[in-house]
Amino acid sequence: MSEDTQKDTDTKVTTGITGLDNILKGGIHRGSAVLVSGNPGTGKSILGMQYIDHGVREHGEGGVYLSFEETEDDIAEAAVSIGIDGWREHVENGDIVVYDKMELLEETDFSSSLTRILEEVDSDRYSRLVMDSLTMFEMFFESEKERRTYLLKMIDILKHNGFTSLLIQESEAVFPDRDIGPEEFLTDGNIYLAQTPTKTGANRYVWVAKMRKQEIDTHIFPMEIKQGGINVHDKAAGFSYMSGEDVDDDMDIGGGTRRGGL
Ligand SMILES: Nc1ncnc2c1ncn2[C@@H]1O[C@H](COP(=O)(O)OP(=O)(O)OP(=O)(O)O)[C@@H](O)[C@H]1O
Ligand SMILES: [Mg+2]
Repeated sequence: MSEDTQKDTDTKVTTGITGLDNILKGGIHRGSAVLVSGNPGTGKSILGMQYIDHGVREHGEGGVYLSFEETEDDIAEAAVSIGIDGWREHVENGDIVVYDKMELLEETDFSSSLTRILEEVDSDRYSRLVMDSLTMFEMFFESEKERRTYLLKMIDILKHNGFTSLLIQESEAVFPDRDIGPEEFLTDGNIYLAQTPTKTGANRYVWVAKMRKQEIDTHIFPMEIKQGGINVHDKAAGFSYMSGEDVDDDMDIGGGTRRGGL
């Protein structure tokens, strides 16, 4: 391995999705907390599972997967169904630790149970974390102020424990119609996943809008989800949010017609 590559491996955390790592110019800056947003079914959980699995298989980095929505078994089933065959084995041997809703909902004070979990985890063995999803977790806070305060604190704890994390967020509206929330500002990076309906199915896209401390390609790239996981194409999509010039058709998404949206 050349010195440069070795240096990149030290500072960048690869997602294992080649096209996405190319957009990220090698990966996510180590120690970052990255928001992954998208509508239902856009591939957020699959991205999270691939990220964790890749860390274990290719880099010997243990992964923590926190799920407020599904049980440990549902997650394993989803992983195996997309082609992550080794998921259960990694969970059994402890390379992947899953905290599912049963454990996370055991205590009524979720924020302290999360803090305890993160502090319990051996930071030498585990350096990748996925929270699926932040949206669900945040629902347990009564006020906006409480939610923001805990989000800040949580990002701090994640960094303090040496994690490079993906925080998954469900979007209600289709980008760019949705509001930008504090999550977007407080996290180090923002990755948006989107899909648009077509006559035969859906076109899928990924957009890395921000990634602190590193250069990225901010074009929108088409992607696919198939057996084996997410595949991001290396040629940028031929349109942008803002301009309709290079768009093929008007699209009707989420109740409003616009040119050039995702
Ligand atoms: N084995 C598979 N082959 C092809 N496509 C698949 C396969 N498994 C899942 N998918 C596609 O991936 C989508 C689900 O991806 P995923 O569960 O990661 O979405 P999500 O963004 O996490 O959704 P949600 O917000 O509901 O949790 C499915 O709707 C389906 O289109
Ligand atoms: Mg999901």
